[in-house]
Amino acid sequence: MTVLLAAVMLPGCKKEKEENNQTGLVLGFSQIGSESAWRIGNTKDIEEQAEAYGIGLRLENANQKQDNQIAAIRRFIAYRVDVIAFSPVVEEGWDNVLMEAKEAGIPIILVDRDINTEQEGLTTCLIGADFYREGVQAAEYLIRKADRLGLEHVNIVEIGGTENSTPMRQRQAGFMDTIAGDSRMHVLESIDGDFLKSRGEECMRYYMEKYGEQIDVVFSHNDEMTIGAIPEIEKAGFKPGKDIIIISIDGGQEAINVLKEGKINCVVECTPKLGKELMETALKLKKGETVDPVIHPVEQVFSDEMNVSQIGPRGY
Ligand code: AHR
Repeated sequence: MTVLLAAVMLPGCKKEKEENNQTGLVLGFSQIGSESAWRIGNTKDIEEQAEAYGIGLRLENANQKQDNQIAAIRRFIAYRVDVIAFSPVVEEGWDNVLMEAKEAGIPIILVDRDINTEQEGLTTCLIGADFYREGVQAAEYLIRKADRLGLEHVNIVEIGGTENSTPMRQRQAGFMDTIAGDSRMHVLESIDGDFLKSRGEECMRYYMEKYGEQIDVVFSHNDEMTIGAIPEIEKAGFKPGKDIIIISIDGGQEAINVLKEGKINCVVECTPKLGKELMETALKLKKGETVDPVIHPVEQVFSDEMNVSQIGPRGY
């Protein structure tokens, strides 16, 4: 039992659930890793939906390494799965392996994140959030908050996600483009926190030491880093959510609890529940049907502008 559990839980391991294959479709899925509650919720959702749809799933966890994802995709090709899906950790460097999949006639679905490629037609579609819009929504909240508080000068520090990843690039672009029109907004510094709690902690410690009371706002690209950052603000003698405005992205249960405590001001939702769309798209591809090139889930914003006590259980 212990050995079985370890095989299921450890990063980098393979999970095969093909016994449940009632549709005759085998889907190979390369997950990035287990860096956040979001990612763990995303993996769980994909497993549950594969089960619900009767799709055989070969799932591999790449432990945050692109090389592991490329090797997993090559194994899926060798195994001749019907459809390959993956969440690319970064945007660059996929052309060769995707060309191999194309030559093998296996359609590719991008889940959650996008890639940058010069070649047309290597992937069929992208199922994932509109990260640019998330950045816009974070900035729009901040502008409204600054109006309500009557702030004339707003100093912002940013804790970004993994460098060269789609959510990092697009959330930053959406946020910066939106505050660009507001002369009160000033970004003191942006650092890459790799979507990890430990990095959120480190970045915030550095920011508190360097800027201290100059900081008005923390814009953090995910809940994990926000949860890491908050104790560092408290250790420096400031009240998160009051002395410093805290804006996060994801909407996992832990961050929503902290929003309810008043230590986070705004959480822009990024849903990890992409499994249903993934299964339906994979089935369409197996039947040779065309699919929409981009599928964005519907998402919302949770903030101190609403009655936060009414936010229900998040499920991740
Ligand atoms: O790609 C989505 C991002 O990746 C989520 O915001 C983050 O929590 C995850 O690790």
